[in-house]
Amino acid sequence: MRTQVAIIGAGPSGLLLGQLLAKAGIDAIILERQTGDYVLSRIRAGILEQVCIDLLDEAGVGVRMHREGLVHGGFEMLYNGQRHRIDMKGLTGGKNVMVYGQTELTRDLMEARTQAGLPTVYQALNVAVHDFDTQKPSVTYEKDGESFKIECDFIAGCDGFHGVCRASAPRSAITEFEKVYPFGWLGLLSDTPPVHHELIYVNSPRGFALCSQRSQTRSRYYLQVPLTDMIEQWSDEAFWQELRLRLDDEGRARLITGQSIEKSIAPLRSFVTEPMRFGRMFLAGDAGHIVPPTGAKGLNLAATDVKYLSNAIIDYYQESSEAGIDSYSARCLKRIWRGERFSWWFTQLMHRFPGDDAIAARFQQAELDYLFNSEAGARTIAENYVGLPLDFGG
Ligand code: APR
Ligand code: PHB
Repeated sequence: MRTQVAIIGAGPSGLLLGQLLAKAGIDAIILERQTGDYVLSRIRAGILEQVCIDLLDEAGVGVRMHREGLVHGGFEMLYNGQRHRIDMKGLTGGKNVMVYGQTELTRDLMEARTQAGLPTVYQALNVAVHDFDTQKPSVTYEKDGESFKIECDFIAGCDGFHGVCRASAPRSAITEFEKVYPFGWLGLLSDTPPVHHELIYVNSPRGFALCSQRSQTRSRYYLQVPLTDMIEQWSDEAFWQELRLRLDDEGRARLITGQSIEKSIAPLRSFVTEPMRFGRMFLAGDAGHIVPPTGAKGLNLAATDVKYLSNAIIDYYQESSEAGIDSYSARCLKRIWRGERFSWWFTQLMHRFPGDDAIAARFQQAELDYLFNSEAGARTIAENYVGLPLDFGG
């Protein structure tokens, strides 16, 4: 088998790349270890920046998002029993975000791929990448007990944090930066109306909480929990009780509880790989970097990697130019580090860190007090939350 681009991973990164390449008439095959249903069962954040919305439109998969997604012009920060609204729209000259679950977005991308008859191999096992340091890379895999080889011009590593592509890069060529946070997020999804029409980020003495949503009738809530907590310890009732304790009176009065549809604990990590290109293999999305979920930057950073990568590959074929390929890693990393910084900062600001001493608590309090009382402070949150422009800082 031969293709121009072998894409490893059918998460949002791989599917979006496949779509953008197909629009430009470039052949690609996607290899995915799991089934499509399994990919769709993973619940992740759902806040899209304008840059990401534009990209989905460009890929021709934005119709349902515009119909069903909720446009948000602000969010609340709850601290010390008081809510402070960050007026994103007002503070950024009219920018909003879109609340649209990653599951739905992935479903739209999958359907567009199927409709266009583009090839995806699900349950591709033992995927291995070869010779990406030469002009003739290839990928091998097994499916239903048979072995296959794909020869290609490029390999796109869209295979997430635990993927094979980053793991196959020579150790001497890679630098990894990592910070693991001393707590996790317990998430609960339920078919109940959201407690508020906008998101509420909560810093309470009992720890962080987040009131998010998927639609007018589906809510997503999170609680900061110790890393040692097991999901079995958290009945739905225990979750709702703890959430009530972290909310304000208005939140407690308005909260509508119900049976969970999904409940899971996720660790929080900041992680960046440098570089993101190894010869003819590129990393994109979670394969190259992870952010803690505070601020929901993960999917948005993945989308901009894919934008840079698709442009680079299209220029290679259409303009015979390698400039985009050569600058891919540096361009991505510049944007990624900005997203990493914001996600780390917002995490520090809103969580209670075990072992923090009295002075650390006062610093956090003083910083929140400053942000809530300074328009410049609020604007810096808003500007980062809606997403920095693609060409920010050149
Ligand atoms: N062979 C084939 N496929 C693989 C392999 C492998 N060896 N390893 C991993 N995969 C697949 C996974 O099964 C998964 O479906 O790669 C896909 C990677 O998808 P994601 O983890 O969703 O990563 P990405 O597409 O980059 O999406 C980034 O996901 O975690 C969130 O915050 C993140 O929203 C962001 C988005
Ligand atoms: C979510 O809805 O899952 C979500 C929203 C905002 C975040 C993180 C997660 O900052």
